Amino acid sequence: MRNSNAAKATLSTKTFERLRALVQKHAGIDFPDEKKYLLESRVKPRLMAQEVPDFETYADRLEQGDTRELANLVNAVTINETAFFRHPSQHEALEDTIFPELVRLHQQGRSGPIRLWSAACSAGDEAYSLAILIREALGPRHTNMEYEIVGTDIDTEVLEEARAGRYRKRAVRNVSQARLRKYFDRSGETFVVKPSIRDMVEFKPLNLTKAQDMRRMRNFDLIMCANVLIYFNDTSKKDVLRGLYRSLRPGGYLFVGGSETLGELEVPLEPVRHEGALAYRRPTNGSVSSRA
Ligand SMILES: C[S@@+](CC[C@H](N)C(=O)[O-])C[C@H]1O[C@@H](n2cnc3c(N)ncnc32)[C@H](O)[C@@H]1O
Repeated sequence: MRNSNAAKATLSTKTFERLRALVQKHAGIDFPDEKKYLLESRVKPRLMAQEVPDFETYADRLEQGDTRELANLVNAVTINETAFFRHPSQHEALEDTIFPELVRLHQQGRSGPIRLWSAACSAGDEAYSLAILIREALGPRHTNMEYEIVGTDIDTEVLEEARAGRYRKRAVRNVSQARLRKYFDRSGETFVVKPSIRDMVEFKPLNLTKAQDMRRMRNFDLIMCANVLIYFNDTSKKDVLRGLYRSLRPGGYLFVGGSETLGELEVPLEPVRHEGALAYRRPTNGSVSSRA
């Protein structure tokens, strides 16, 4: 009975404002007025799962501090579209220029492992793409070189998928046949990342808009933060960029989505063009000023 009420529930403007404030506060994700329908359709299944009859009761529950349901809400509203080798020109830049440079620097005695971070990694496609590329860049000659690859996301459900490493055909559509054979086990229409690649990546929950989470991430040679800043408002986007800047080691690179630009930057990241790909580099003498 209650479930059938939830199925018919509609989201009033007032409750939309309450729910979008919660999503903004806990995930940084912005739902402008014209996206009310999207929030409504994403949240409605939560009403049914929680057996609450309407959006108002659901908002009350969240505002009273139901942290488990807040996490479910965040999982429900994130957009998780992703794919392996999603931005071919960026991956060419990594393959041709950036990874060989990192390998050379580490061969020349730069201390510590090569550190790569797929920030907002969704189901792990991007993090495993990095693992494949760095494995190829290191080659058999550099087996003693240390590296760390981390994939993080706010959505705990996609992180489970990432750890399982199982993908449908659509996710691997940009992967060459040679790489598919080498790095995946095929089972019908499912492609499973081989343990040798899966073991290279660690997946953990992280909220890019939480300073406390970001402080744990330091000294990265490369951060991929693609197709997530677009969901944040200007203030959150600037905060996240400051955090990412601090997470890069001097000389480290940041990539955002293939068609995203960062606009006017408050942090001293230098745009660097690699053929069709735009990277942002933290200068080697770049300090973290009080503004940054
Ligand atoms: C469209 S996917 C992008 C995935 C991948 N980076 C790519 O470009 O293919 C956006 C991801 O950002 C994550 N996300 C949204 N808000 C976030 C936040 N505040 N902190 C961390 N991840 C967040 C979502 O859960 C989702 O998996």
